[in-house]
Amino acid sequence: MAVIGIMSALHEELAAVLADMPDEQRVVVAGRDFWVGQWQGYAVVAVLSRIGKVAAATTATVMLERFGVDALVFTGVAGGLGPGVSVGDVVVASGLVQHDMDASPLFPRHEVPLYGRALFEADAALSAQLAEAAQQVLQSAEWHLGPDTLAQFQLSSPKVHQGLIVSGDRFVSTNAESQALCQALPDALAVEMEGAAVAQVCWDYGVPFAAVRTISDRADDAAHADFNRFIREVASRYSRAILSQWLAK
Ligand code: ADE
Repeated sequence: MAVIGIMSALHEELAAVLADMPDEQRVVVAGRDFWVGQWQGYAVVAVLSRIGKVAAATTATVMLERFGVDALVFTGVAGGLGPGVSVGDVVVASGLVQHDMDASPLFPRHEVPLYGRALFEADAALSAQLAEAAQQVLQSAEWHLGPDTLAQFQLSSPKVHQGLIVSGDRFVSTNAESQALCQALPDALAVEMEGAAVAQVCWDYGVPFAAVRTISDRADDAAHADFNRFIREVASRYSRAILSQWLAK
């Protein structure tokens, strides 16, 4: 039976997934808790990615080497960069770039040395399935979140986007930095801190990878009104619902 790896960036998301896994067993490797069990009839290994590219790459490597997962799906939150990518929207990666990779002048900016590429593509079929699942969940966002949460976060008709996600070891929280990112990588829809590293590890092992991110902020000067509440009441509910909808297919 194929084994699906789920890496969550947030405790709340992992907790929501584990609540649906009736018989999971904890296996500790490299100081991380890997939860091995079943979800909706699939063999699943779920783990907290940890934050930043190196921590997430280590977690991904263990997923592939020790648990032999056949596909890896990453869920978490991200800052919106592209025009029209708003808080409460979902971005499914078509490909990922490390925005802080720069070995110029030895290699072009963003290119990962010795790979001859900056972009690591997400698996097209897996990403299309997840985008469709996200579309279905967001169509009934009110049902998943409740009207009060929708109003509190001013989430009117949230959208699903598919495109470039960029990753780096910085939480982007100023207008200047987000503008610089948009200038350097004009196609970028969202920024986070792990995805491109995990995509590179999956590329090395030839294992399909996909990333689904809920937009929690616009990576600008405006601090999110209530980040923790957003994670709990929006992002973790979306990711559990999207993964569950995807597995139900
Ligand atoms: N994850 C969520 N928001 C982010 C941001 N603004 N920068 C980097 N990672 C993020």
